[in-house]
Order: sequence, then C-alpha cells, then structure tokens
Amino acid sequence: MRLNRKLEHIEFSLQQKSIEGANGFNDITLVHNSLPQLNWEEIDTRCKFLGKNLSVPLLINAMTGGHKELEGINGDLAKVAATTGVALAVGSQRAALEDTSTQYSFSVVREMNPQGVVLANLGADCTLEEARAAIKMIKADGLQLHLNAPQELAMAEGDRKFKGILENIHMLNRDLEVPVIVKEVGFGMCRESIRRIAGVGVSYIDVGGSGGTNFMAIEEARCGKETEFSWGIPTAISSLEGLSLEKKDLNLIASGGIRHALDIIKALAMGCPLVGMARPFLKVLVEGSYDQLNTYLADLISDIHRLMLMLGARTIKDLQRVPLIISGNTYHWLCRRGIYVDHYARREGIF
Ligand SMILES: Cc1cc2nc3c(=O)[nH]c(=O)nc-3n(C[C@H](O)[C@H](O)[C@H](O)COP(=O)(O)O)c2cc1C
Repeated sequence: MRLNRKLEHIEFSLQQKSIEGANGFNDITLVHNSLPQLNWEEIDTRCKFLGKNLSVPLLINAMTGGHKELEGINGDLAKVAATTGVALAVGSQRAALEDTSTQYSFSVVREMNPQGVVLANLGADCTLEEARAAIKMIKADGLQLHLNAPQELAMAEGDRKFKGILENIHMLNRDLEVPVIVKEVGFGMCRESIRRIAGVGVSYIDVGGSGGTNFMAIEEARCGKETEFSWGIPTAISSLEGLSLEKKDLNLIASGGIRHALDIIKALAMGCPLVGMARPFLKVLVEGSYDQLNTYLADLISDIHRLMLMLGARTIKDLQRVPLIISGNTYHWLCRRGIYVDHYARREGIF
C-alpha cells in the first residue's frame, strides 16, 4: 500500500503542470541596478545551514524513499547535492520504520553525500523513538516534521486526528539531538501558525506554500476524483507573513512552486535564508537523466549569480538590502492582514 502510494505520488506529481504566478512571486519586483560595480567572480552565494557550508542557499526538498526501486532516485539526488553543495531532504521515512528492509533507499543519501547537509523526514505526529531512528538511519543534520492535514483529508486511508501536534512538535524540538524543521507540503502557513510553531521553540520553519506541487489534487487523482477546488496560501505570501514576525532566531525556508532562479532570488531578497524546490529536480531526473539534473542545477546556480550581479548584490546579505516592490494581490493581502504598513513599507524604503 505504502509503496504504491510512493510510486503514485511520483507519477501523479510529474503529470501536474506549474501554473505561472500561482506561487505569488509575480507580485514581487526587484529593481534593476544599471551600475552593479561588481565582477562575475566576486559574486559569493555561500551560506551556512545547520553548521555546515552550502555553496548556495538551496534545498532539494523531501520527496521519496521506502522501496528498492527508489534507491536510484535518492542516490542521484544525493550525488547532485554533494557535487553542487546544496542541502537535501529525504521523503517520509515512515515506510522504513515499518519495514527495515527498505532502509537503504534512505541511507543511500548519506553514502552518496557523506559531508553535506542531509535532512530526515517524518510526520509531525511521530514519537521521539521514531524520530531518533529516522535521524540515525541517514546520520541526519536535522529532522523535517511535515504538516499535511489537507493531504491526509483528501486520502481515503489518511489520518483524521490532528489534535496534540503542536505539543508533539514542542517535545521533539526539546528532546532531539538535532534541529527540527517544521514544514508544510504545499499548502503554506499564515503568521499565526508560524508564531505558534516558533512559540514552542522551533527555529526552522519551511512555509511549503501553494503554487507548485498540489498534494490535495494528487490524492484526489489517486482516488479517481476530479479536483473541484484548490487550497492553500501562496509561497510568497506565506513567506512574507512569517517574515513580518521579525523574529531574529527564526529561519524561514521559502518553498512550494519555486521554479527558477528569479523566484529564488526574490525569496532570498525578502529575507528567507534558504529556498527549497522539490518536483522540478524529480522531473529532470526521472524524465531525463542524472547528467541533465547536474546541468539543470549548475544552470540554476549560474542564473542566481547572474541575477545577483544585475542587482549589484555581492553576497546573500547584500541581496537582503536591494529595493523590492510588493504589488498586486500580495500587496492587497498584506494590507488587509495589517502586515504591510507595519513591516514592508519600511523594507521598501518608503519610511
Ligand atoms: C513525489 C513527491 C513526494 C513528496 N513526498 C514528501 C514527503 O514524503 N514528505 C514531505 O515532507 N514532503 C513531501 N513532498 C513535498 C515536497 O517536499 C514539497 O513540500 C512540495 O512538493 C512543494 O514543493 P514543489 O512545488 O517545489 O514541488 C513530496 C513532493 C513530491 C513531488
């Protein structure tokens, strides 16, 4: 059952088409700089994440594992992460906790990427023992705890009990030996949710916004049901909601529907220290090859350099100071939520 689900997630996710603008980033504009006063080789995209160096603040987000057939995908994702110096998360390790013979489909990532940042992944309702086993399985630098109520509710076999999750996150964050990253899976987060998660001590939150892979539609397709409505908060809005909390010790990861370097640059410029992408990497690998994935990632990183130069930003820190305009539905949303005037008007340099 779980294997079929994992394979169907890959199959149905690859059939989905990205809807241009659905992630909200078209409402964010970065202002071109005609005098960047920088040379190409000066651009420095390096950053630290969980105490290790990344060549660029990018995460290959959680996708798969849990069967022999999936070893190749996780192995290739780990190899490309090691070659390019980006972080990598595995898919939910629940399957390997239930059937230990599938553990290698996860631990292969550590074998292929011994030095890099590798994240374990489980549902946020897991026990401390399960969390420790998942971390140990891949010698993880951190544990992603996913929140996915809309996905579970769209699944015939899905969970229906969501009480006590925040308390469980609190316990895991307090008792685990590695940092916890709480993530959504494409439905986004509002600032109230982010505040509550941060309030129990979590320092890393991946907003996992809407506009990309749509797990409600995937689960409905698996049941043979037609999708009638969509759900979630676009990634740009989710990120801005969280950033408006201005919590110094909170690291917000922007992900969900990120499809090119410009969206990555916008998220970094807004103030997110890390950006995640999932389906695009899977698509290039499954429908193409490992070499194509390598080229795809190298091109993405080169585009990040290009955009930084065009903005006159030598480092990621400089990027956070470039003029940024928020307009359209995102501006309207932030105004209606009472967020814009407090926070973003200042960021745009209006006050
Ligand atoms: C095939 C597939 C499987 C996924 N499985 C998981 C998972 O096991 N755990 C999880 O936290 N997220 C999972 N995700 C969600 C991604 O990590 C990410 O949050 C979501 O796809 C939105 O990003 P994207 O639009 O860049 O794909 C999966 C995504 C895909 C495409």
